[in-house]
Amino acid sequence: MTKIICVVNDEVMEGSGLKKEHGVSFWIEMQHANVLFDTGQSPEVLSHNLQVLGLLPINIDALVFSHAHYDHSGGVAAIFPERTTIPLYANSDLFRARYSSKDDVYKSIGMTMKESDLSHYFYLKLSDDPVEVKPGLWTTGTILERPERMGISKHHMVHTQAGWEHDPYQDDLSLVLKTSAGNVLICGCSHAGILNTLYHTEKVFGGPIIGVIGGTHLISADDQYLDHIVDVFQDRYPDCNFYLNHCTGKNAIDRLMEKLGDRIHMINAGNTVEFPE
Ligand SMILES: [Fe+2]
Ligand SMILES: [Fe+2]
Repeated sequence: MTKIICVVNDEVMEGSGLKKEHGVSFWIEMQHANVLFDTGQSPEVLSHNLQVLGLLPINIDALVFSHAHYDHSGGVAAIFPERTTIPLYANSDLFRARYSSKDDVYKSIGMTMKESDLSHYFYLKLSDDPVEVKPGLWTTGTILERPERMGISKHHMVHTQAGWEHDPYQDDLSLVLKTSAGNVLICGCSHAGILNTLYHTEKVFGGPIIGVIGGTHLISADDQYLDHIVDVFQDRYPDCNFYLNHCTGKNAIDRLMEKLGDRIHMINAGNTVEFPE
């Protein structure tokens, strides 16, 4: 079995002793390797939660960043290896400066570490293409086609030669776990759009998709769009289970649960989902 353990999330399992924070991190325990997907936003919370869950940073064989935002990359110092021994996979657009703008104040929300500093600890493997992280576990690569809505915040900005522009979220990727029963999509924030990410995964890796885990950035989706999501989940992914957290948002989880019943689950820090090899 492959175990996917939620280590950091905005909500934690009651009575678990875990700390919550806005962010996400998953420990993926495969037969021959452990992969950490995102690190939450602070080394303190990641370190505490790993310890409570009995997971040792020294046993991590590879790290993957879903995208640059601080709530996914900021906890990385909790798992620094003593020397460069493990790879860090991410999109090639990872180190572009990213900001949140409110009332003309621009706050940096991208990577907190420079490429040159991070490369002291990890073999940086930045790519736009799908990459096999470990046998049976792939990155999606850049989500190129985006016919459906992206998971945006109107405050997310980048600075270009033309001036301030909305973040195109080129860095956003998810992981695809290949199992004997079908593919499982593991998402960080799904800024590229959860439906775009699903379509891309089917196109690149085939089907069926039997599970979706993580943040789907439906937090600001209105009911009309949520009903469109429900229709697509029903028509195109009838055998898929959804384990949602982080930026999915309570309103979206409640509405999806109401319409799709027991195919929708919450996955908080401390919760584990298992899939056959
Ligand atoms: Fe994000
Ligand atoms: Fe996020």
